[in-house]
Formats: sequence, structure tokens, C-alpha cells
Amino acid sequence: MREIAVNLQERSYKILVEKGTLQRIGKRAERLGLHSPIAVITDPTVQNLYGDVICAMLRNQGYQFGLFCIPGGEACKNLDTVRVLYDQIIDLGVERQGGIVALGGGLVGDIAGFVAATYLRGIRFVQVPTTLLAQVDASVGGKTGVDHPRGKNLIGAFHQPSLVLIDPSTLKTLPARELLCGLAEIIKHGIIGDPKIFAFVQKNLHELLSVDEETYADLVARNCRFKAKVVEQDEKEAGLRAILNFGHTIGHAIECLTGYTRYLHGEAVAIGMLAETLIGLRMGISSEDLFEEIFAVIRDAGYPLDLPGVSAEQIVEAMRRDKKVLQGTIRMVIPKRLGQIEVREIKEERLILESWKDLQSRLRTTGPPEKNDTLSDDVGATT
Ligand code: NAD
Ligand code: GLY
Repeated sequence: MREIAVNLQERSYKILVEKGTLQRIGKRAERLGLHSPIAVITDPTVQNLYGDVICAMLRNQGYQFGLFCIPGGEACKNLDTVRVLYDQIIDLGVERQGGIVALGGGLVGDIAGFVAATYLRGIRFVQVPTTLLAQVDASVGGKTGVDHPRGKNLIGAFHQPSLVLIDPSTLKTLPARELLCGLAEIIKHGIIGDPKIFAFVQKNLHELLSVDEETYADLVARNCRFKAKVVEQDEKEAGLRAILNFGHTIGHAIECLTGYTRYLHGEAVAIGMLAETLIGLRMGISSEDLFEEIFAVIRDAGYPLDLPGVSAEQIVEAMRRDKKVLQGTIRMVIPKRLGQIEVREIKEERLILESWKDLQSRLRTTGPPEKNDTLSDDVGATT
């Protein structure tokens, strides 16, 4: 078992990465001192795959619990879903010493975490992330919340989990496209602070695409360790934590301009990382070699690089509306070399305009990605 401590004074917790850990949920809940009844929140796909084992293990430990299934999909990440969950856990009778188990991807984790943050002014919750993205990113760090019609994640709270239980075996059932989304955040961690992660992905790309649990156990643990260190230094994103936004400024603009339907989040972030590195190139911070190195991994992993037909001007406009843009100032994380970044204000819009056009023309002149035997069918089918 890999164990990572997140040290945040009275809000400290452990992340446990272990094959088969779902089967120990009952014992873990007892060790935390959670009282019955417990609310397990999940989505339909994850309920079908892992609901039974979680229920059996809680039952074996003598817990009373309720299993509540949200509809799934970003469209349900709103206060209506939260209201239904409040009704369900009030009916169940969850008390202050009780708790919530978030079983699923980042969507379930964000919603269940927000319910835990606000029900009875805050109760404990356990993250049991089942997507790669949630295992290496969303389940760690205590950002919880829901979307508002005017923007993603506009309503929320910082509420740290009491425990994160990661079972890399759950990645075996994850669709290839979702796996790539998590891999984009892993690549991001490698670029912004832990070059060994980047080198590992470069070297083991093909094994990673076909999911070997042991390989993932190490990689997930290393990523959690990296994110935990960032969160420990800046829990509420007063400064340093913003480095985790590399690729996200342009990535969010792409997601927004394509109606959140054409690209999954990680796919947009992969394109965003390329565009933001090209901005760094123009600013004299990133190098051509660095761009090539990042580009090779993203191309070989098989991210969709057929850029959306959005103009550079639309990208700039969408970025200005993003909540990360403070008082009209666009701040961006720019990679200097692998593992080293600078956070810079982008005062000249032309840097963004030129870089987007540059990316468009580079992608037009580059051939298709190397065919990947393990992933190509799935990726093609779902794009
Ligand atoms: P998701 O939770 O929607 O899961 C993606 C799909 O995978 C869903 O259909 C789900 O049912 C399915 N799934 C989950 N686990 C599975 C498994 N083991 N096998 C088969 N299918 C499985 O998506 P996500 O990418 O995990 O999370 C995205 C959400 O996370 C967004 O709402 C985003 O805002 C949020 N997020 C939060 C943070 C944070 O720090 N809190 C960070 C990044 C993203
Ligand atoms: N996913 C970005 C953060 O946790 O800050």
C-alpha cells in the first residue's frame, strides 16, 4: 500500500493507494470513527460496477447506510441535485458524527464533497475516486462545488476529505477516453513540477494506455504526493496552487467555445498546454525543444488534435470571461523547462492570437499521431 499524508493541521488526512482497497471501506470507515448511518453517493455507471462491493463491505462492518445515485454527467452538477441529496440524507438520518462516501469520478466527488461541506455545517466525507482524473487530481485538495448556469464550479467550498481511498483496479473498467483525461493532468504535473512524472509517462506511454494496476499504483501515488505538497503550501489558492491551472486557461476557453460537448476536460487541457507553451516560446520563456517534447507525448498518447474551428479572437474573448481572469488581467502558467514554470501576466493579446494561429498551422502540417493499437478504436469511436 502507498500512503500519502496531506498535512493541513486539524484538516490533515491520508491518501491510501492500494489494489483492492474498495473491499476495506467498512474497516476504514470504522477506523475513522464514522457513525451509522452513512450516505454513499455515486452515479449510475459506478453504482453498477462498484456499488455492490461497497454496500457489502459496509454491511459486513455493521453499518447502516443509504446508497444515493445522482444522474451523472456535468449537466447534473447543480444545486437541484444537491437539494435532492440533502432530502435523502436527512431522511436517512445522517448525524454530525456520520459521514458521506463519494464513490465515483470528479463529478461525484465535487457534489458529494459540497453536500458534506454544507450539511449540518460540515460533516466528514471519504473520497473513493474511480476515474484517473479524480485519483490524481479532483479527490485531493478539498475543492468541492457545483456549476451555475453562468459558469462552471461557481458555487463551492473548500472542504477537505477525511480520507482518500484509491483502488487502481477501478481503472480497468474506465473508457480509454476518460483514461486519457486523467493522463493529461498527470502530464501537467510532470511539466509544472515533477519532471520524473513526465519522463515516466514518456517512457511508459504504451503500458499506461493499456492499464497495468501496479504501474498505475506508483504513478497515481506520485501524482497525489505532488498535488498534496502544492495544497499543503496553499490550501485556498492564494498563490502557488494556481500553478495547477497550466493548460487550463486556454483549455477552459476551448471547452466553453465548443459548448462543453466536443472535448472532454482533459482533451481541452492537452491542447491548452500546447498553446500556452507556444505563448511561452514567444515570451522567450519556453524553448522550441520543450514544445517539441510536450507535443510528442500529447500526439503519441492520441489526444484529438483536430483543432476546433474557433478563431484566435474568440479564444481571447472567452478567456476574458473566465473566472480565473482577475480584473481583466490574464495570468498564465508558462513552462520554462520540465519541472519549472513561471506565472506571468499576459499584457499583450497578440501573444495569444499569434500562438493560437501558430498552433493551428503546426497541427495542419504535422501528420496524424502514431497509430496506437491499444487505444485507437475506443478513442475514434467516442470523439
Ligand atoms: P466524471 O466523474 O463525470 O466521470 C466520467 C465518466 O466515467 C462518467 O460517465 C462515470 O460514470 C464514468 N466512470 C467513473 N469511474 C469509472 C470506472 N472506474 N469505470 C468506468 N466508468 C467510470 O468525470 P471526471 O473526469 O472524473 O471528473 C470531472 C469533474 O471533476 C468535473 O465536474 C470537474 O469540474 C471536476 N474536477 C474537480 C477538481 C477538484 O479539484 N475538485 C479537479 C478536476 C476536475
Ligand atoms: N484542480 C486544481 C486544483 O485543485 O486546484
